[in-house]
Amino acid sequence: MRRRLAMIAAALSVPFVVGAGVVWAYLPWITPAGPGRWRLGPKSRFLNGRAVFLRRAMAIVVRGDDGEFTALSAICTHQGCTLKPRNARKKITCSCHGAAFDFTGAVTNPPATIPLPRLAIVEEGGELILETLER
Ligand code: FES
Repeated sequence: MRRRLAMIAAALSVPFVVGAGVVWAYLPWITPAGPGRWRLGPKSRFLNGRAVFLRRAMAIVVRGDDGEFTALSAICTHQGCTLKPRNARKKITCSCHGAAFDFTGAVTNPPATIPLPRLAIVEEGGELILETLER
């Protein structure tokens, strides 16, 4: 009986652990830093050559291979769907109608024709601050 309970508890914990990982991935350590401003933490949280989607800020932060940061709106310029980075292809894609952008925000695939708006990203007191568009 105890063994069966232990097996059930182990089986039930798997979805919890996976769910916690998903939540962690989508709520990555950003906190409000005032109206339209988000505290992202230190630069070291971002890997070179990778883009991170920040749902709370509706932004995509790209750290280039050279270590430089670019912040882009995660709202598609075609009809406003949410964009996601595809790090393996170094693209930002829209699942609504297939638009794609490169990591500078330039359009690489229609139907979008307008590049992604750039957002300000600055370093203050050893951590990055993202300034988003007011919505
Ligand atoms: S809303 Fe993104 S391609 Fe149409």
